Amino acid sequence: MKQGLVLDKVVLLGRTLDEYRRYFALDLPGLRGRRVLDVASGVSSFCAEARRSGLQVTAFDAIYELPAEEIECRCAADLNHVTDAIRDLQTYRWDFYESPEKLRRFREQAYRGFLEDYRRMGRTCYVPGRLPELPFRDDEFDLALVSYLLFVYDDQFNYEFHRRSVLEIMRVTSGEARMYPTVNFETHRSRWLDRLREDRTLAHLEFEEVRTDFEFLINSNFYLRVRRR
Ligand SMILES: C[S@@+](CC[C@H](N)C(=O)[O-])C[C@H]1O[C@@H](n2cnc3c(N)ncnc32)[C@H](O)[C@@H]1O
Repeated sequence: MKQGLVLDKVVLLGRTLDEYRRYFALDLPGLRGRRVLDVASGVSSFCAEARRSGLQVTAFDAIYELPAEEIECRCAADLNHVTDAIRDLQTYRWDFYESPEKLRRFREQAYRGFLEDYRRMGRTCYVPGRLPELPFRDDEFDLALVSYLLFVYDDQFNYEFHRRSVLEIMRVTSGEARMYPTVNFETHRSRWLDRLREDRTLAHLEFEEVRTDFEFLINSNFYLRVRRR
């Protein structure tokens, strides 16, 4: 019997720059002059906010094929659904967000910030496509981030999807990739992590689980750092 959030599809929820900073332990001033790719960026305001602070960020997501109005309808509905669904679950710690209402404010702030920027910047910053393929050149970015797509949905995306996605992300990234969280919605470390580490087709990559001090979904105080050996 599942204890955590049960989702039959990937939801359209967005985080803010501040949440990304905590998830990935980002040194934002240190990212100046570096090319950052946010994979599965969705309705996060990370790209919009980071660009306003002078960073160079490209956002990639399957939903960027859609007009802003359609994205808005879908993310508003998903936010209602998830805010209600997690209210009584024991799989979250509320130290940071304090209540579902405050959490909802973060998510609304993120998706409104995203929508405004998406309408203004369009495909200059928001590139549509679907993992496990990326429409970018080899080494086009210095840092790639993936928040809330890989590992956490390990019941919806199989091992091969994860393997191919990691390979593709590392093809376009000359520095490192960070993927968060490393647990699934049941708060268990994803079963795909050890398979990735042991996979001979990924022997040129180094995997490190890095502890952070941010935890909302229980056990989500780690991100996965991937680098070339
Ligand atoms: C939970 S949201 C996370 C958004 C953002 N990274 C954040 O943390 O705020 C997951 C995102 O993954 C996107 N997605 C799902 N499958 C995808 C795929 N195969 N390729 C690219 N994006 C995908 C969805 O459209 C959605 O925007």
